[in-house]
Amino acid sequence: GQEIKQNIIMADMIGAILPRRSPAAHKGENGRLAVVAGSRGLSGAAAMTAAGALRAGAGLITLAAPASLQAVLAVKLTEVMTRPLAETSAGAVAQAAVQEIIGLASASDVLAIGPGLGCEEETRALVRAVVAAACCPLVIDADALNALAGYTSILTDCSALPVLTPHPGEMARLTGLSIQAVNADRVKVARQAAGEWGSIVVLKGARTVVAFPDGEVYINTSGNAGMATGGTGDALTGIIAGLIAQGLSSHDAAVAGVYIHGLAGDVAAAAGMVGMTATDLIKAVPAAMYGIKG
Ligand code: APR
Ligand code: MG
Repeated sequence: GQEIKQNIIMADMIGAILPRRSPAAHKGENGRLAVVAGSRGLSGAAAMTAAGALRAGAGLITLAAPASLQAVLAVKLTEVMTRPLAETSAGAVAQAAVQEIIGLASASDVLAIGPGLGCEEETRALVRAVVAAACCPLVIDADALNALAGYTSILTDCSALPVLTPHPGEMARLTGLSIQAVNADRVKVARQAAGEWGSIVVLKGARTVVAFPDGEVYINTSGNAGMATGGTGDALTGIIAGLIAQGLSSHDAAVAGVYIHGLAGDVAAAAGMVGMTATDLIKAVPAAMYGIKG
């Protein structure tokens, strides 16, 4: 069969693509990033996505979440701006928020959408409307991916290449394959999906695969089993979006984001792998980047 070129992600490769901050930088130059995430009971997913973006160096972050979560998110995230969204009776983002979110996307360099949004049908329809209309680069994760199951044709219309970050369960839902089939040939499944959906597919798990529509594939080498804990995926979404905000292409941000995320996990695990938290990983992101870039 056809030979697939698999690139192994290494530190020197990432050092060459990480943003370099000029000594005279101001926050506007480091990008405007919007996060749409959270629902009643899932405020942490929204907080960790925004915190991942913050620790990756994004300049100005706005976290848009159901209105009843705004106060708690504002207290958790001192440096992040918050935007209250119309919500359903169950406390998830309502369809009525669609124009607000599209407006926020127009004023942003990148939009991260999905963590903790929940699975109400109204919210899923809203996600599809936002993905179809938003004109900035998108990072799509978690419940936003679930909302796209059966609707992946929407992705091919996006103006910028969207970055999708499924774990094997989300990938199974999106492709219609079983989780076992996804994991049986992760490179092939990610590569085929990237081509079909016109998207960058980040298939997570030990040795995350990053696949591009032209068939290019990268395999990550950083990270450890301590990362198998709730919230580390939300952090990755924020890190990739935070790199796009700082001017990296979606291609470079996906490759560098998975490596830095894993390396931050390795930094955090140095203090003990079992019991490390997603928040420990997020706090280690600056040190991980510094270790590569200086
Ligand atoms: N080695 C290296 N990296 C790992 C390992 C491992 N053994 N285990 C997990 N990771 C990394 C993955 O590559 C990914 O980047 O940790 C992250 C986990 O991300 P998610 O699976 O999205 O988990 P998260 O979203 O944080 O947790 C809540 O649980 O049931 C699901 O759908 C639910 O998305 C929700 C998730
Ligand atoms: Mg997840």
